[in-house]
Amino acid sequence: MQLFLDTANIEAIKKYAAWGTVDGITTNPSLIAKEGVSLESRIKEITEVVDGPISSEVVATDYEGMIKEGREYAKWHKNIYVKVPLTEDGLRACKTLSSEGIPVNVTLIFSAGQALLAAKAGAALISPFIGRLDDISQDGMELIAEIVTMLSNYSYDAKVLVASVRHPRHVIDAAQIGADICTMPPEVFDKLIKHPLTDIGLEKFLADWEKVKDLQK
Ligand code: G3P
Repeated sequence: MQLFLDTANIEAIKKYAAWGTVDGITTNPSLIAKEGVSLESRIKEITEVVDGPISSEVVATDYEGMIKEGREYAKWHKNIYVKVPLTEDGLRACKTLSSEGIPVNVTLIFSAGQALLAAKAGAALISPFIGRLDDISQDGMELIAEIVTMLSNYSYDAKVLVASVRHPRHVIDAAQIGADICTMPPEVFDKLIKHPLTDIGLEKFLADWEKVKDLQK
């Protein structure tokens, strides 16, 4: 399973990329706004840190506008994936950009039907938002299982990118289902690495070693 970082914070991207476990980056207009930066300059900065798919989202809502923005983003770097929302215009834009060889990430997916349409429109990535479904008391992970099963019957190019991830259990469940990619905020990376028994175990190893360290010389 590939792990992406869902942030536009460059310091976080540098930190977690150094772990060697970040395969790509997803951003969205809210994450860019949180940083208070220019989309173009931040995306270009990210391409210098991570050598993998980097999603940059269109803000136009009409087909022509999405195509214009998407083509522009694609010029910034070979790893850019143009993110479009699952709307009628978004689907059309997905089809056009994909047929031009520009990889598209279709976002704001909340149903298996939407995922199927995105796959058919040539999406390279489809992004179901599980946390936001959980927030309204629908099981987001059930949707992932449904989409993974559905797509396994066919040979679409689309990879399932699990988004709106809130905690490590989401990541593990998505991996067990066989989702291709999970994108998560920095806090979830932190929770994945941490276990109190690891800290206690290391402390004990080092304390025991202290007793014999002089014998090592
Ligand atoms: O990048 C899209 C998605 O991961 C957003 O997550 O936490 O805003 O629902 P969230």
